[in-house]
Amino acid sequence: MSSEKVIDLLRKAYGDEMETVMNYQTNAIVLDGVRAEEIKESLQTDIQEELTHAEQLGNRLKQLDARPPSSADFVARQDSLQPPEDSTDVLSVIRGVLDAEEDAIDTYRELIDAAEAADDPVTEDLAVTILADEEAHRTEFRGFEKEYQQD
Ligand SMILES: [Fe+2]
Ligand SMILES: [Fe+2]
Repeated sequence: MSSEKVIDLLRKAYGDEMETVMNYQTNAIVLDGVRAEEIKESLQTDIQEELTHAEQLGNRLKQLDARPPSSADFVARQDSLQPPEDSTDVLSVIRGVLDAEEDAIDTYRELIDAAEAADDPVTEDLAVTILADEEAHRTEFRGFEKEYQQD
């Protein structure tokens, strides 16, 4: 038996992944300058991973007889990840990414707890796997933050 909480969190996580894909893609295009190259490349790699997360979450929802949300249900939340006025402001994008990854980490931790409480080890296992990816993204961008703060 799937719990409402598990379904709600899977749908929320799906929406967050899609918003992340949109903002990482836009920032990867908008950023300018030699210093931005490394960040743009890293964002491009992460976009593919976030898209895979969304697909996995959507397929799990289907297995639980539910559906992923589409644009009519969507509420944008990533204020700090909007592309900066100054297209060379790499640090602003790095900090927006860190906010998005922190937020994802919180959601997957919540999903792990909810899935465990609902005795749903398959969703729990998926959330643990995705959580590990988000923690790796955070570590990478914490490194970038240190590097770019210094110049
Ligand atoms: Fe993700
Ligand atoms: Fe991520």
